[in-house]
Amino acid sequence: MLIVEAQPKSISAEKYRVLRTNIQYSSIDKEIRRIVVTSAEPGEGKSTTAGNLALAFSQDNKKVLLIDCDLRKPSVHKKFKLSNTLGLSDVIINKEKIQEAIQERNENLDVLSAGKLPPNPSELLGSVTMDKLLEYFETIYDVIILDSPPLHAVTDAQILSKKSDGLVLVVRAERTKKDSVLAAKALLEKVNAPILGVVLNGGESTKEKYYYYYGH
Ligand SMILES: Nc1ncnc2c1ncn2[C@@H]1O[C@H](COP(=O)(O)OP(=O)(O)O)[C@@H](O)[C@H]1O
Ligand SMILES: [Mg+2]
Repeated sequence: MLIVEAQPKSISAEKYRVLRTNIQYSSIDKEIRRIVVTSAEPGEGKSTTAGNLALAFSQDNKKVLLIDCDLRKPSVHKKFKLSNTLGLSDVIINKEKIQEAIQERNENLDVLSAGKLPPNPSELLGSVTMDKLLEYFETIYDVIILDSPPLHAVTDAQILSKKSDGLVLVVRAERTKKDSVLAAKALLEKVNAPILGVVLNGGESTKEKYYYYYGH
């Protein structure tokens, strides 16, 4: 269960709304509509952040689509207790499945789960069909949040970052090693990823379970 939905009045939920506002104000000339959430390693809180951020945008009356682009270890459908019978991979292969695959979470938030695990995730994410899909989604949604696999495992997040307006790097407090974060940053800079900032996930300095810092 995601905190923004379960406890919208909590301090943690408020932090996600601050993150949302920071993203909205981070670019003056270009509206940030496609946002990639990634991290150096598995388990740092990418999917948790992507889900809560999507909810925070939906509470701001934005039409939001959350897409699980972690076609290797998908988890968005689990966090939202949704089905993953049909999802992004299926839609890339067969566009006719779009309407069937999109699941409504609330009146402003739709979710596209990952779908069947494909043998070639990077190829699917880097395809022209994926570009076309994102262009199509932009005609319907204000904000598209892309959850992704970790940077150190595969090139998927780098591929996605090139298709996005902004990228959020999640770092797990007291766990992610500094070298790992710096290596992730280097990978992103190599492809000129539009890094918006870093989310520090799970600091223990507060009574709340989740703590977020946002900035460069
Ligand atoms: N701040 C946090 N405090 C406690 N547990 C967390 C926190 N952030 C994430 N988790 C838990 O850690 C696990 C990994 O988080 P997840 O968002 O799935 O990571 P990723 O997508 O980066 O692999 C999940 O079980 C999630 O519920
Ligand atoms: Mg994940």
